[in-house]
Amino acid sequence: MALAASFLGGAKGRLLPASVPFRFFVSAAVFHILFWLTLFANAEMVVGFRGGPGPALAAVHLLTLGVLTIAAIGASAQLLPVATRRVLAAIWPIKLVFWLVVPGTALLAAAMYLSEPQAMVAAAVLTIVGLLLFTGLFADNLKRAGNLRVVSAYGWAALAALVLLAGAGGTLALNYQIGILPNHGAFALTHVILGGFGFMGLLAMGFSHVLIPMFALAPAPPHRLSVISFALAASAVALGGIGALADQTAVLALAALIGLCAAALHLHLMLRVLKSGMRKRLGLSFMLIRGAWVMLPVTLVAGLAALYGLAGPNGQTAFGFLLFVGWLLTFLLGILQRILPFLASMHAGPSAGSAPMLLSELAGSAPLKLHAACHAAAVLIVATGILLDMEALARAGSAIGVLGAAAFAWFVGEITWRLLRAQTPR
Ligand code: HEM
Repeated sequence: MALAASFLGGAKGRLLPASVPFRFFVSAAVFHILFWLTLFANAEMVVGFRGGPGPALAAVHLLTLGVLTIAAIGASAQLLPVATRRVLAAIWPIKLVFWLVVPGTALLAAAMYLSEPQAMVAAAVLTIVGLLLFTGLFADNLKRAGNLRVVSAYGWAALAALVLLAGAGGTLALNYQIGILPNHGAFALTHVILGGFGFMGLLAMGFSHVLIPMFALAPAPPHRLSVISFALAASAVALGGIGALADQTAVLALAALIGLCAAALHLHLMLRVLKSGMRKRLGLSFMLIRGAWVMLPVTLVAGLAALYGLAGPNGQTAFGFLLFVGWLLTFLLGILQRILPFLASMHAGPSAGSAPMLLSELAGSAPLKLHAACHAAAVLIVATGILLDMEALARAGSAIGVLGAAAFAWFVGEITWRLLRAQTPR
């Protein structure tokens, strides 16, 4: 804990009030349950999803915006100022981001579920304004971060992808209403690549350079290799976006191959960090993180196979599921498991008038074990259901996913509840 404590310990003054990041985490936990429930109730539409409005598109955005993006905003708002050693200029803008993005996402998912193009455009505007405001806050903080060059590079690239993906999302929603795009499918794939690999993927890889060494009590990965890994990942995203927009299979395949090289180097760096770390027993959260690491190259191989029609009739859907659930969601849940108790203990540490809170008190391990087992089973069963085009299998897997998400929400709720109690003056 020594490195972790020095990372956050000297930085207590840069922590936001606990209610700010935790409102994002609690919302993400609720959207997580809604995501699996929507999948469960509409498994017949999910297994062969090929785009277009309806429950499957709603499920996609409950996950991508509701869980991944909202949790990423909460985590970045808290961790970035600590990592860059620059406080946020003010607290109200990040609260405003919450009030735009969370209701915006809920409305967008409802409008997608009900196939209501007009409501979809209105909700898209609300969400996009929130995402752009977050981009401004994040950029302002990154601009002042001279000390973390690789993390900053990942951060800038992720922000650029976020702006483009939000613009593309808004245009796709408008296209349902007024038909402005010559090739809706190509534009949708560009949006997926910018969202999955660009915004979320680059953010996950960038933060890994700070968080994984912090958890393992290890030095940061070597700078030169990290720069090469970043350059490969960013070029793969840019090439993938262009290839999708131009509808060019060969360019997409080249992007996937460069992405595989970036993934191999990134995983090599992360495993090297774990090997050199002083802490070897990293617990349940690292089982999820390691699982997510396996899923990264698997997703890229599945994408390549789907490009050439080698992954069966639902290959595209399987690729999307592996990308957003197999890799990104698994990684995020592993990271949240680790940082939530830590942040809570930082906030609720012994200070005048408040009850001290122990780290070990915060992470109730029974819900976390249940969640990890359910999450792994749900990913495997639903992915198999999609590949074999078996609705019943996808529904059974989603039911297990609902149970896992409920267990995770229990964990988040318990931490939040204890934090509130510990912060109440006695
Ligand atoms: C302002 C926010 C967003 C809006 C307005 C939006 C809008 C849309 C629309 C209208 C589609 C339908 C495309 C089609 O007809 O197939 C779509 C698809 C999709 N979006 Fe978003 N989106 C947003 C954010 C995101 C984010 C942040 C992600 C990922 C991190 C994401 C991932 C996806 C995925 C995976 C699809 C499925 C594409 C397909 O297979 O057709 N979206 N989005």
